[in-house]
Amino acid sequence: MKFFVDTADVAAIKELTELGMVDGVTTNPSLILKSGRDIQEVTKEICDLVDGPVSAEVVALEADRMIEEGRKLARIADNIAIKVPLTWDGLKACKTLAGEGRMVNVTLCFSANQALLAAKAGATFISPFIGRLDDINLDGMQLIADIRQVYDNYGFETQILAASIRTVNHALQSAQIGADVMTAPPDVIKKMAAHPLTDKGLEAFLKDWEKTGQKIV
Ligand code: G3P
Repeated sequence: MKFFVDTADVAAIKELTELGMVDGVTTNPSLILKSGRDIQEVTKEICDLVDGPVSAEVVALEADRMIEEGRKLARIADNIAIKVPLTWDGLKACKTLAGEGRMVNVTLCFSANQALLAAKAGATFISPFIGRLDDINLDGMQLIADIRQVYDNYGFETQILAASIRTVNHALQSAQIGADVMTAPPDVIKKMAAHPLTDKGLEAFLKDWEKTGQKIV
């Protein structure tokens, strides 16, 4: 499973990159706002840090303008994936931009039918939002399973990018279902390393080690 980091926080990306945990990055207008940075500058900095796809999102609503914005964003670096929303215009923009050989991430996906359309429009990635479905008492994880089934039935190559991941269980279940990629905030990725029995075991080992009076030299 590929790990993308869902942030525009360069320091956080750097920390995870040093551990080899970052196969790509996803951003969106809210994350750019949170970073307090200029979109062009921060995206360029991220693209220089990370070899894999870095998603940058268009903000136009109409296909022609989305295509223009997508082409501008793609000029930032070769590893830009242009993020377009799952609207009819977004699908049109996806078709055109993918036809130009660009990576396209179709975002704000909340149904398997939407995902089917994105695959047919040539999306590189489809981003189903798990957490936001859970927020309204729907089953985000079931959506990942439904898309997996539909894509596998027909051999679509669009990669399922499980997004809006809020918990370590979202990450695990996405992996179990077979999402190709997950994008998660840095703190969720770091929490995947935590287990109370690891902490307890380590504490016991260190106490016993102290009693031996030895040192590793
Ligand atoms: O990748 C999409 C993600 O940024 C949305 O997450 O937590 O705002 O629903 P969230």
